[in-house]
Amino acid sequence: MRGAGRPFVDLTESNPTRAGFAYPPDLLASLSDPRALEYCPAPLGAAAARRAVSADYRRQGLDVPPERVVLTASTSDAYSLLFKLLADAGDEVLVPRPSYPLFDHLTRLDLVAARSYELEYHGRWAIDFDSLQRALSPRTRAVLVVSPNNPTGSFIARGELERLAAICEERHIAIIADEVFAEYALEPDVAAADGRAACVQNALAFGLGGLSKSAGLPQVKLGWIAVAGPERLVNDGLKRLELICDTYLSVSTPVQVAAAELLTRGAGIRSQIADRVRANYRVLKEDVALVPSCRVLGADGGWYAVVQVPSFELEEDLVLRLLTEYGVLVHPGYFFDFASESFLVVSLLPPEAAFRDGAARLLGHFTGDSPGFYRNHHH
Ligand SMILES: Cc1ncc(COP(=O)(O)O)c(C=O)c1O
Repeated sequence: MRGAGRPFVDLTESNPTRAGFAYPPDLLASLSDPRALEYCPAPLGAAAARRAVSADYRRQGLDVPPERVVLTASTSDAYSLLFKLLADAGDEVLVPRPSYPLFDHLTRLDLVAARSYELEYHGRWAIDFDSLQRALSPRTRAVLVVSPNNPTGSFIARGELERLAAICEERHIAIIADEVFAEYALEPDVAAADGRAACVQNALAFGLGGLSKSAGLPQVKLGWIAVAGPERLVNDGLKRLELICDTYLSVSTPVQVAAAELLTRGAGIRSQIADRVRANYRVLKEDVALVPSCRVLGADGGWYAVVQVPSFELEEDLVLRLLTEYGVLVHPGYFFDFASESFLVVSLLPPEAAFRDGAARLLGHFTGDSPGFYRNHHH
């Protein structure tokens, strides 16, 4: 449709730099700080940058000392470093389902096998601990959680994280918690009850964060790992991570010099994104409430929402019909391995007017509106 010049509303847009936010033109000025002209390699990251990340955790009410912060070029980089740290070829990590499709590639590229455990929906999403127990094997080295999860929007509750930590402690395996969306609560008060990796004390836990989401700056390439757990395991892990990071040294010096300022100024972008995703989530819930055959699944946070729709046809056919006839692009649930059909995943990032238009098109299909109506109305 792009090739044919046919316009459509893209409700899969998840690139914050293309969603109409006001980035101050000088936001990246600190990347040209002359202090970055000197190269002083530090495997776990420059001390000042690690202190800045530690201070950013403190702002969120979390205690992560700078010595327990490891800088990375991105979250994907962090996963790769941690798989190298924790697993030998053929070892296994447990990944949630439904979740982020990139895990298939991230694990295989480090010769690790991903085994799934289920998230179950009953009004809210929760870990199915029976499925998690079944997925554990003698080769399991870590359990991944994404909180809030992409695309279900579910936070891991504090009680769930404690239960998971007890399992990991007993089996001497680690928790890897992807918290990149942690500051994007969609409903008031939900984040108060969430579990953060930094609070885990009895098992080795790694919390992942980065500027991609927290400051809407994926192109800047700065992420981090917060290491938590028993002192001996943390220190041993850090020592080994230092060797791995020293082998690649993938975090650029300019971004480390700029880290403190980017973290501070990123708050302005973060609040724009947070307002946008909350507003769009509210619109989606209001609009879907008027369509009895569809429902929005409860999401606590993040940049996505899931709409459950009737299964009259395959998700693939439905998504193609929505695109070609109604002019709206959404992701099918199967991209994220939902246990059944039919689910549609929408990004909450698009500008409000486009989002409203896209939601109307999506729902128009289920209320029997003629596609022709939407063909002639473009935002
Ligand atoms: C759950 C999750 N983790 C990590 C990332 C990517 O982060 P990074 O750009 O730091 O690799 C994404 C991006 O969509 C994501 O959805």
